[in-house]
Amino acid sequence: MAKTHILVIDQGTTSTRSIVFDGAARRVAIAQAEFQQHYPEPGWVEHDPEDIWRDAVATARDALARSGIAATDVAAIGITNQRETAVVWDRATGVPIHRAIVWQDRRGAARCQELRADGAEDLVRARTGLVIDPYFSATKIAWILDNVAGARARADRGELAFGTIDSFLLWRLTGGRVHATDVTNASRTMLYDIHAQAWDAELCRLLRVPEAMLPAVHDNAHLYGTTSPDLFGAAIPVAGIAGDQQAALFGQACFAPGTAKSTYGTGCFMLLNTGEKAVASEHRLLTTPAYRIDGRIVYALEGSIFVAGAAVKWLRDGIGVITHASQTDDLATRVPDNHGVYMVPAFAGLGAPHWDAEARGAIYGLTLGAGAGHLARAALEAVAFQTMDLIDAMAADGGGRPAILRVDGGMAANDWLCRFLADMIDTPVERPTDLETTARGAAFHAGLATGVWSGLDHLSKLWSRDRCFEPSMPAAVRAPLAAGWHDAVKRTLSTPL
Ligand code: G3P
Repeated sequence: MAKTHILVIDQGTTSTRSIVFDGAARRVAIAQAEFQQHYPEPGWVEHDPEDIWRDAVATARDALARSGIAATDVAAIGITNQRETAVVWDRATGVPIHRAIVWQDRRGAARCQELRADGAEDLVRARTGLVIDPYFSATKIAWILDNVAGARARADRGELAFGTIDSFLLWRLTGGRVHATDVTNASRTMLYDIHAQAWDAELCRLLRVPEAMLPAVHDNAHLYGTTSPDLFGAAIPVAGIAGDQQAALFGQACFAPGTAKSTYGTGCFMLLNTGEKAVASEHRLLTTPAYRIDGRIVYALEGSIFVAGAAVKWLRDGIGVITHASQTDDLATRVPDNHGVYMVPAFAGLGAPHWDAEARGAIYGLTLGAGAGHLARAALEAVAFQTMDLIDAMAADGGGRPAILRVDGGMAANDWLCRFLADMIDTPVERPTDLETTARGAAFHAGLATGVWSGLDHLSKLWSRDRCFEPSMPAAVRAPLAAGWHDAVKRTLSTPL
């Protein structure tokens, strides 16, 4: 009988999960492990790649054991990952030479400032679709090469390899036989020309990253290699890779131009499918590959917000206002309004459309009447306000307003948030039955590459809706809320408008 189960490794910012899907894209088993975050200096964020590798293998084995599916019966593995996070390792040993520098890390801010001052913005935007920001991998790689003794010379000699997390996992899964990535992950390095679909020699020189370190770039649905048999007891093909936000767009079956999704994980990332056209943004959104299958590329406009769930995590772990993330739903509902309290969660600077690496988080409007409920509500409202700003920027860019916004990620389980979001964007918000759309997207790619599913039409039929939240807030209520938010953002920017 043909194999139809797909094992997905979903390596996120705060946890690593492995999920087994069956041939109907239903989740059969899941295993998850949270791992340690390292904050060596303010604004710096690092991960130990060995933690990530350990958890990837352990959760994959665990998910397989729970599913009752033997490794020999798995059709393929899909990988999806936190994007931009940079790992540099020794090709001879496979051992990283430094901890991974995480996408949230701002240490490249000064270098980015220099690049902007040198007038590199237009070149970077034209080739990569990105703005110059320490968010992307390039300045992180250069930092490692400049700060680990001997690293730059070793990189020049071809002894070191760079990869985003997918690429590092692929290297390890294949026992060091494959150094590759997919087009979506490559596009987040600031070194990849998204139109020519190739590494860009001029950008590599400018950003001081030797091309010899970079992985081969393939379609999302592609036979990348097979796992070392000793890992899971069988050589399983790795047949799908996609950065987590592009994977979520794919898992939400947003295949038609004009369809959009927003994922509420650690951050919030909204992607609008623009078809085969790479729309250049005039409002500081990113132009990014959404997926490439059989050599055909589809682009998206992306709005990247660095903090969504991370603000709720901060309420829990940072200041202890809540003990569990799900309490925010209840707390937010119990207060009649936001009491004038606004939180601008610039904990890692501000992403789209401001791109202010120096901005820091702030709470405004505190009076003696403000309580935990208002803080929780402000954290949730900030997520909706930021999504509203992204949709406005996309519309202004000529990408149009999506007729419906599909949501996913952990925070999308929060009904209050979905309702408030629909109200603020004045657009229906659709929630799928399976909120694990990131993993689902990677499963779709791996399943396409191995014939489990026949094509996009087939995948569309596997998507199903849990609930649709219709907007109901009168414009007269919405406008002052939006104005209060915009005023708070203005006060938070490091360079006042
Ligand atoms: O670009 C960063 C993004 O890929 C991280 O995603 O799910 O960990 O918030 P997440």
